Amino acid sequence: MIRVTRRYRFCASHRLHSEELPEAENQAIYGKCNNPFGHGHNYVLDISVRGPLDPDTGQAVHRGALDRLVERNILEVLDHRNLNTEIEAFRRVVPTSENLGLEIYRRLRDDWRSEFAGPWPVLEKIRIAETDRNIFKITDETRQGRR
Ligand code: NI
Repeated sequence: MIRVTRRYRFCASHRLHSEELPEAENQAIYGKCNNPFGHGHNYVLDISVRGPLDPDTGQAVHRGALDRLVERNILEVLDHRNLNTEIEAFRRVVPTSENLGLEIYRRLRDDWRSEFAGPWPVLEKIRIAETDRNIFKITDETRQGRR
């Protein structure tokens, strides 16, 4: 079994602001990220999949199939978007990178079968870096532990 991690990049803007909290608390929690007109990030997304080596191709995952899946479900949807206003999932959910990671993971899982119909490869985890200092990991366990 081999784990393959493939890296993708996209840019998006957001504003961190919770309608559930008063202004002062939003400022206190999110700081500069609460500024009203938002700001952008160059996100780095690592997608890790696991599968047995195919003896014919010498590969554990078909790169082209993974690229199509990511292009269709993630990059076309999120790249150069305002997450708060253009992405349905974030109309009422704060687009923190935790929530963004969960949304990306869900999107990949939901459409996985259209590119990978067999038992392998499986999606193992994603890692999303908002900045060099803020890095988030999502797995199936993360999702199950979600409120
Ligand atoms: Ni931000």
